[in-house]
Amino acid sequence: MSNLIITGGSRLSGIIEVPGAKNAVLPVLAATLLNNGISILENCPELDDVLTMLEILSALGCKIQKKGSRIEIDASSLTSSSIPEQLAKRMRSSIIILGAVLARCKEVLICYPGGCEIGMRPIDMHLKALKQMGAEIDGLKHGMLRVKADNLQGCEILLDYPSVGATENIMLAACAAEGETIIRNAAKEPEIEDLQEFLVNLGVNVAGGGTGVVRIKGRGEIKTESVHKIIPDRIVAGTYLSAAAAVGGSIVLTGVEYDHIGSIIYYLRRAGCKIKNYAGGVVTIESDGAINALDLVRTSPYPGFPTDMQPQLVALLARAKGTSVIVETVFENRFRYTEQLQKMGSDINVQGRTAIIRGVDRLKGASVEARDLRGGAALIIAGLAAEGETTISQAGYIDRGYERVENVLSKVGAKIRRVED
Ligand code: EPZ
Repeated sequence: MSNLIITGGSRLSGIIEVPGAKNAVLPVLAATLLNNGISILENCPELDDVLTMLEILSALGCKIQKKGSRIEIDASSLTSSSIPEQLAKRMRSSIIILGAVLARCKEVLICYPGGCEIGMRPIDMHLKALKQMGAEIDGLKHGMLRVKADNLQGCEILLDYPSVGATENIMLAACAAEGETIIRNAAKEPEIEDLQEFLVNLGVNVAGGGTGVVRIKGRGEIKTESVHKIIPDRIVAGTYLSAAAAVGGSIVLTGVEYDHIGSIIYYLRRAGCKIKNYAGGVVTIESDGAINALDLVRTSPYPGFPTDMQPQLVALLARAKGTSVIVETVFENRFRYTEQLQKMGSDINVQGRTAIIRGVDRLKGASVEARDLRGGAALIIAGLAAEGETTISQAGYIDRGYERVENVLSKVGAKIRRVED
């Protein structure tokens, strides 16, 4: 893996174009299996997780053509319904391919996705819903899972929690089910609406994405040619806004969907940043680097403050004037990265799902280690604002969700470079 080396203190200034969303393109790539023709996706981010998903689609028999942010997937002749174990283990979110393969091939063999740094990541809600639709699920030896469904039936499903992945898997399986499937307490994230838009372009009768109740009428006529543009990445946008807030400066984001980052902007404004929104997907931020503490922030499903921005906000608040409290309500173990922030002089006390952040005047550069994607992004933000040099090892975790992060940040004035191990 490689290391990122940052010399802190350089204010940011310039323009950053926000790429397509990782968490939108992954389920849409899975959904291309429903089209036994050619799907063309535009504005795809160039990320390791996208490459892994493309390897999985190729292993199933898809023909892939990738030119920059444009990807063509020809799924007209699948040759397998087994997901290669080493690929599924490389990216636990590969579980969202389950529903699509089941819908197209009536069976799928996949390994249980492991837990990860931020939590156990169970898939009980995915499996309970598929069983309700008539799927047979065998937990085989060695952590493999075989799911078969010759005749999926539409039904009414109530999710105990608005799980993003479970909503996506059920939507995709329901495309092949007889009758109507209703998903209540469905996730409302913009990525669900983007998946719905892709499916509608394919001719699927689906509605309600983003409202919490999604209805899918299965077995409709599927077109064999579709073009879809992936929505912008709201977490990448929020991350770069937080970086500018932390070290000070003035940057312009382009290609942003303002409504998707409303809760992020809400807290950055309360932390003292001047943020403006312009027509055409432009958002600007000005910050002098002086940050107000935030009394209490709780992460929650969309449209609440996103769990995927929690580490970045904590890194920003590490130098706030006063004490902030963050409660992580979505994942049970998403504060591990704070151990690394403490090496840089932050004063953060974690009690279960609550972090108490006492702002310090300065952070000092240190050698730290990224252990997950958004925790790694938090280390970048802290390194930009710290005095001296910070070395972030295991930078490959960050590459899973941020395109060429050192290039993007160098272009707006950060002193950051990558050194291969
Ligand atoms: C998606 O993960 C995102 N990943 C995550 O982004 C994001 O943090 C998460 O949604 C929440 O917004 C992708 O879209 C690829 P969930 P997902 O199912 O679908 C529990 C990033 O950094 N749960 O909404 O796995 C689960 O343990 C990543 O980009 C069950 O208990 O999230 C968690 O506590 C990290 N049983 C909560 O629900 C289940 O069957 C939310 O999980 C499913 C989930």
